[in-house]
Amino acid sequence: MIDILQYEGKVCVVTGAASGMGAACARTLVELGAEVTALDVQPIDLPAKESMQLDLMQQSSIEEVAARLPAKVDCLFNCAGIPGAPRFSAIDTMVVNFIGLRHLTEAVIPRMSAGGAIASITSVAGMGYAKHLDKVQELLGIEGFDEARAWCEANPEFANGYLGSKQMIIGYTHRRGGELAVQQIRMNCLSPAPTDTPMMPAFYEAAPQEFMDEHFQAPVGRNATPEEMAEPLILLNSNAARFVSGVNFFVDYGYTGQVFVGDRPGLLL
Ligand SMILES: NC(=O)c1ccc[n+]([C@@H]2O[C@H](COP(=O)([O-])OP(=O)(O)OC[C@H]3O[C@@H](n4cnc5c(N)ncnc54)[C@H](O)[C@@H]3O)[C@@H](O)[C@H]2O)c1
Repeated sequence: MIDILQYEGKVCVVTGAASGMGAACARTLVELGAEVTALDVQPIDLPAKESMQLDLMQQSSIEEVAARLPAKVDCLFNCAGIPGAPRFSAIDTMVVNFIGLRHLTEAVIPRMSAGGAIASITSVAGMGYAKHLDKVQELLGIEGFDEARAWCEANPEFANGYLGSKQMIIGYTHRRGGELAVQQIRMNCLSPAPTDTPMMPAFYEAAPQEFMDEHFQAPVGRNATPEEMAEPLILLNSNAARFVSGVNFFVDYGYTGQVFVGDRPGLLL
């Protein structure tokens, strides 16, 4: 029998490990034999090697946690996120979902060597990012945490919360995927269709469930489970995907295919 994923003994850092897809990801990595450092703002209940509290809203928390991570990291899984309005402001959503994610990722990259891999959860909500490429590039060019936040405050039409933050993750992945290739480090992201996690009720507060199901649910006719997202994410960071980088992996059972070919309205384009 061969093991094409090769997680045995790999040092893996997982954000959002307290709940939903991040918890499913961390749990599965432990079962695959990885040494998992689990991070979240909420308490984490997992048999991980180590768990730490991380608040992606705060630059100081990110830097303190990054300094305590293992000296060598093989894989980073960016699963933490917040759903935006009505529960969270646009700025807080941009900070947690993109600025904080990027700040942590850039702090982890120096701990990686050839073969390192980063996979972030974005969303089908980000699929229209290329239409805003000028804004995406502007924000990508602002590296400082506070400076990026100030840019978001000054550009509220683009930095509108959930959509803007998820578009930025895709742009960041496309840019850094190519740049990091020279170090043989990979970066990919995954765009889930609606998935039954504790975040889903927040989306139903923003738009009624009937509307969400009609316009965004996978054509297979149900929401995904957290494991149905965690496992493709684990595939992206695995040895089986060793020539895959700079990719936005749609995991939606045909939804974006229908949108791109014009069989379904492209409300997110
Ligand atoms: N559920 C869906 O339908 C769906 C669809 C597309 C994308 N996503 C994305 O999937 C990812 C995982 O979400 P989920 O659905 O598993 O939701 P979830 O709410 O179950 O998990 C999100 C986790 O992020 C953590 N988190 C929130 N704010 C944080 C902060 N400031 N610092 C550190 N951790 C923080 C939460 O505590 C939680 O454990 C998110 O990025 C989300 O935007 C979800």
